[in-house]
This record gives sequence, structure tokens and C-alpha cells, in this order.
Amino acid sequence: MGGPCIFISRSDLPSIIYAELNKLSIEMRMWKGSGPMWSRQASPPREVWREVFRECTGAIVTLGDVIDAELINEAKNLIAISTYSVGVDHIDVRAATEKGIYVMHTPEVLVDAVADLAMGLLISLARKIVLGDRLIREGRIYDRWGWLLGSEVHGKTLGIIGLGNIGTAVAKRARAFDMNVIYWSRTRKPHVEFALGIQYRPLEALLSESDYVVITIAAAPETRHLINEERLRLMKRGAYLINVARGDIVDTNALIKALRDDWIAGAALDVFEEEPLPATHELTKFDNVVLTPHIGSATTETRNRMAEVTVQNLINFLMGKKPLYLANPEVMNKRPLTPII
Ligand code: GLV
Repeated sequence: MGGPCIFISRSDLPSIIYAELNKLSIEMRMWKGSGPMWSRQASPPREVWREVFRECTGAIVTLGDVIDAELINEAKNLIAISTYSVGVDHIDVRAATEKGIYVMHTPEVLVDAVADLAMGLLISLARKIVLGDRLIREGRIYDRWGWLLGSEVHGKTLGIIGLGNIGTAVAKRARAFDMNVIYWSRTRKPHVEFALGIQYRPLEALLSESDYVVITIAAAPETRHLINEERLRLMKRGAYLINVARGDIVDTNALIKALRDDWIAGAALDVFEEEPLPATHELTKFDNVVLTPHIGSATTETRNRMAEVTVQNLINFLMGKKPLYLANPEVMNKRPLTPII
């Protein structure tokens, strides 16, 4: 092998990524794909991954790039993956750690943008903002009594599933809206409870007490279909479900059943089991459902900060310094950091 080679799986990421890597004496290879960060269609084909992982030292990837154990185990030269996302569920982190591959990501910088979107979705649902807009644009008659009567936000109970950085930021916003906030998380956070005046509940109790449920938990094999038919049945008939985390945390078929049979009042979803969600999907047929195409972190400022972190993570690694955000810190025992450039 000559000098280090870095592979970038997209050509349309913020320019700082390419500019910063260009300043280094490394070979940069880029796949010409472009599209939303979660797009699988924009991701290089498997044979390209095989080839670059055989030859390159590091890779910059996005959510749509599925880096599974097979690709990782075959990777001959790869020792670093920096993903332009907070989520690392598209990468087999365990396989990477076993092979001594550093996996770096972008938490913190997108927290506020995602929390803002969660509140935006909650209020859109509660006050039927999207429905009102649709009725005007479609020239539909909206003088039917009660059609656009929404639900109040202040004074209501918000249940947050997952109290990481994003869940905590949602709790802060909800407190500013005079909401009563309860949460369920895999680990209880007494200091956050105390600081924000929020309370812990077991998941089942949270579902049955909340007027709004916001999902912000990180995806993991054990969170798949965490919100299933049985748990949806626990929710109040007037309650709303909002998901800004990952699509597969909610069982979509069970949710459709819940909406069809009025177990809950509505849902707002930024993430789906199938992305992009086809326009013909059953979920698009409900007036009490708000849909956005995985735009939690999609502000110019946040995406630029994510790009800065993505490239800085990798540069730190290449210089033998600790990356800003390492998803698998235990890898440092397997492969201590050493300067490569
Ligand atoms: C978005 O979903 C992310 O993981 O960054």
C-alpha cells in the first residue's frame, strides 16, 4: 500500500469535507452518487465497497450506506469509518470493533435541530396545521363543525421515549410550552429529572398517561418494534405519536391498525421502515398523520456542523489523535491511536 486512501461515498456532502481532505497528502476517492443522506439508491454497489475497503484506509459514509459484518470482515486495509450521521445503526459496530476499525459519528451538533422538528411535528398535529394548509390548497370545504378543532399543548402530558441528548432537548422545549413531561429510558437520569422537573415512568405507564408520545431513542436490535400493537393499545384514544428516531422502532402495520380503528388520535413521522415512503403508502391516506422525509437534522447550519465533525473525526484519527466522537471507544484497546499522516 502507498499513502493512505480515503473513500467518500457521496459527491454532494457539504464542501468542507472535500476541502479539508484535499489539504492533506492522501489519496481521495469519491463515489459520484448524490441524494438524501438516508438514500440507499445513492449508495455505491457492493462490489465498489468491497474494492475500496480492500484498498482504502478510511471511509466517509452516510446513513444510506449499509456497512454490514460481511463487508467489514472482508475489509483488508480499512481502519476508520466516519459517518455523516449521529445514528450508527447502518454499520455493524460490533464487527468493526472486533476488527479494530474506528467508527466515528456526529452526536450533539444535531440535537437542537431534531428537537425543534419534534416540537414542530407535535404542534402541527395538535393544531392540524398541515391539514389546514392542505384543505386550503385543495379547495376542500372546511366549514364542517369540529373538523379543524385541535388539541391543546400547554398543560398536557408529553411522554418521551429515550432520554439521550435529543430527548432531553425535547423535554426542555416542552417545559417551555408548559407541558408536564414524563420519560422512559433504558437508564434512569435523576439529574435531568431534577434539573428539568420531569419524571420517570415505566414504558407501559408512560404510554397510558401521555397525551403526546415522542420517540427519540437510539435504534438498536432490541428497539425494533418497541412500539407494537400491544403497546399502541395502551395509549389514550386522544393521544398522538411522534417519531423522529428510526422507522423500525414503530411497527408500521400495527400503527396503521391503530389509526384505522381510532386507538390513537394521530401520528407524525419523520422516519419510516421503508424510506423513501412511497406516495401510495397506506400512511399517506390519513388526514390525522403528518409525514416528513427524514429531515430531523436538515438545516443548513446543522448539516454544515455535521460535516465539520465528520471530517475532523477522520483527520484526528489520521493524525493519531482521539476523534471528537467515537461510537466504539473500546476499539482503542484493540488498535491504539498512531499517526498515519
Ligand atoms: C439521522 O437520522 C442521523 O442519524 O444523523
